Amino acid sequence: MTKKTAAPEISPRPFAYRNRKLLCDGADLSSLADAHGTPLYVYSAQQISHRFQLFEAAFASRPHTICYAVKANSSLAILRLLAKQGAGFDIVSGGELERVRKAHKPALKKVVFSGVGKQVWEIDAALQADILLFNVESEAELHLLAARAEALGRRARFALRVNPDVFAETHPYISTGLSEHKFGIDIKAARAIYRKAAKYKWLDPAGVSVHIGSQIRKVDPFAAALARVTALIADLRKDGHDIRYVDAGGGLGIDYGTTAFHPAQQVEKYAAALTRGLANESAHLLLEPGRFIVAQAGALLTRVLVVKKNGSKTFVITDAGMNDLIRPALYHAHHEIIPVRQPAGKSTITADIVGPVCESGDFFARDRVISAVKPGDLVLLLDAGAYGMSLTSNYNSRPRPAELLIEGAQAKLIRRRETMRDLLAPEIPG
Ligand code: LLP
Repeated sequence: MTKKTAAPEISPRPFAYRNRKLLCDGADLSSLADAHGTPLYVYSAQQISHRFQLFEAAFASRPHTICYAVKANSSLAILRLLAKQGAGFDIVSGGELERVRKAHKPALKKVVFSGVGKQVWEIDAALQADILLFNVESEAELHLLAARAEALGRRARFALRVNPDVFAETHPYISTGLSEHKFGIDIKAARAIYRKAAKYKWLDPAGVSVHIGSQIRKVDPFAAALARVTALIADLRKDGHDIRYVDAGGGLGIDYGTTAFHPAQQVEKYAAALTRGLANESAHLLLEPGRFIVAQAGALLTRVLVVKKNGSKTFVITDAGMNDLIRPALYHAHHEIIPVRQPAGKSTITADIVGPVCESGDFFARDRVISAVKPGDLVLLLDAGAYGMSLTSNYNSRPRPAELLIEGAQAKLIRRRETMRDLLAPEIPG
């Protein structure tokens, strides 16, 4: 098979200054804020496509499908952008299935359905859509899947999501590969469950899947987990199961800080680790990357409302809050914060950058050195393309931000700002 070469490397972040103005690719962020208001999510289409193509290139020598994890950023325009390049999708709900259908119907055939608590209506919708693979996370779910497949007269291809008991260093909320976590089925119990499953006429034991967590920076745990999966596949074949798919999950991490980061090299290291883990296994490889594809392509643009001092502390209060980007509040996640107008001098302040939401946990950064800002200035929270918009809420009755997709110098509105009418629409005041 031919080795595809990746497109020339581009900067890992699409945001850069030109004549003191901060641009996203060719688009001027200050003008976009004036035209669309703030807070505003901005994404580079070029960066998203580039990241996807890095995976395509790194795995070109084996049969594979890159199933982008919809939860990372479920915007229809982004799903469509990826689907048109051949992406499949990893979904975790009936809602995400609908998103794939709406974005690019033919991609339903490349959907894998993960999640520990699938409901009957969700399973039925996925069976009717004839998705590629159900990643089953418990024996109870397997029985339910068999029953629904029989009721609808549709054979269900499934993989057990095994828990390999491999430790991957990441935040405890997003680590999943240890037996103490709720995810997956103990790998030692898997062989017996496949045996039982094979008795169901409507179930097709087509694969094995694994996912050990998210924002994993070292690639060795991926290799270790996959080596265990590969050994299991060999046993399953001995038992007569026709295993055609191996799903390695997602989880490859990015650099949220300021050290040099080379996405192409990172994906190549990851591919080498998976190849090691797979040894001679040649089943069709499924991958579920989310963050790595969209995180650095996106940022949250926000305007400073107030700069205030309380005792010795300085607070920069922005018009974006934890309802717009919850990662710092939820995981103490670090996001770089940069001014939209490049300062002439080197004047800095040490401040907490916080939102207007009525919670002390509503912060983006604490005791951070940033360039001096004043009310009305725009700042950009970097690396917010993944688990940013998809984790927004209406807390404090705040409408969700708008989203723009930048294509060269063109900005396309891909989601309008929510209105007061949107906010109140589902309610019945009695
Ligand atoms: N596949 C499965 C089964 C998953 O549970 C996840 C993420 C992925 C794929 C994609 O992982 P990624 O490539 O994006 O790391 N909200 C957290 C991250 C939660 C990840 C949940 N599962 C954050 O903001 O860091």
